[in-house]
Amino acid sequence: LRLLVRHQAELRTRHGIAWRVTGVASRRLDWIANSQGLDPAELLRGEFPRPAAGLNDVRAWLRAARADVLFEASSLNIENGQPAVEHIRAALELGAHAITANKGPVVFAYRELSQLVAERGRRFLFESTVMDGAPIFAMFRDLPLVEVNGFHGIFNSTTNVILSGMEQGLSFEQSLERAQQMGIAETDASYDIDGWDATVKVCALANVLMGAKLLPPQVAREGIRSITAAAVREARAAGQRYKLVCRARRGENQAHATVRPELLPLTDPMAQVEGASSLVCFETNFFPGLAITEHNPGLETTAYGLLADFVRALA
Ligand SMILES: NC(=O)c1ccc[n+]([C@@H]2O[C@H](COP(=O)([O-])OP(=O)(O)OC[C@H]3O[C@@H](n4cnc5c(N)ncnc54)[C@H](OP(=O)(O)O)[C@@H]3O)[C@@H](O)[C@H]2O)c1
Repeated sequence: LRLLVRHQAELRTRHGIAWRVTGVASRRLDWIANSQGLDPAELLRGEFPRPAAGLNDVRAWLRAARADVLFEASSLNIENGQPAVEHIRAALELGAHAITANKGPVVFAYRELSQLVAERGRRFLFESTVMDGAPIFAMFRDLPLVEVNGFHGIFNSTTNVILSGMEQGLSFEQSLERAQQMGIAETDASYDIDGWDATVKVCALANVLMGAKLLPPQVAREGIRSITAAAVREARAAGQRYKLVCRARRGENQAHATVRPELLPLTDPMAQVEGASSLVCFETNFFPGLAITEHNPGLETTAYGLLADFVRALA
């Protein structure tokens, strides 16, 4: 919302987009809707109107808000992607574009939601789900005939911050605290540490870019819990670095993917990925290696991904 407000004039003059916020919802706030518009300044100060009477589900709320676009940013559910899948399904069925930072719907319902997109002529966009809004999915939409055969990279900032912190002399716990202070750790940090966040990103990329049907339990996954600060510092002294590396390859019937700590030589570009930065390298038919590196994203970078999808949806 802060970015929408800051760029309101440019959105209007450069992209022909005028907007108003007509609904806000969360577990604590309940379903707030006013089709005439809510005051952005009040919302940004954390002053929320009372929830609308009689609204008790996402469909009633979207109808009351008369939503043209839904921004879905609820917490990740790695079991089945709910309730975000239902939020997005409802938006598309009711004629709104759906934009999300939540990986769950991409991993668990990409095909079904793409079908709905085709039927309803709306957009389902999710650039912020992987690498905080760096243009990965958008890039491939603009690369005709390119087929992705595999990819590898560093996708989880929290584990990277922890490993970098331990190299610098911090303990595992102190490094985790640093990641939490930066606002990048998942709500449940074990999602990061045990490799679940990286795993769902691998599934999202594989399902969208390689047409796979990969679910998190099908990825061979190992987190960084067993790596000690001493082992990290010893590796560094020997010219190597531990990184939580993600790999996926197209297979005969199914993609094969791993997420696990690997000891990399410093000459490997993945070894150079510091702190909250991330990297992905795709192997494709036309580009043997096509890499995107993102340096030090912040929360605003993720928010930018949502804003960019908003502009793309309305283009
Ligand atoms: N933070 C990042 O850097 C980042 C980067 C890329 C992607 N993402 C993804 O973006 C999403 C949001 O991230 P976040 O860091 O803001 O997460 P968060 O701190 O867990 O906030 C999630 C929000 O969703 C609401 N919520 C959770 N479950 C809900 C439910 N069942 N129904 C309605 N509202 C619900 C929460 O409301 P209450 O507080 O009222 O419960 C809260 O406002 C997540 O899916 C995350 O994986 C985050």
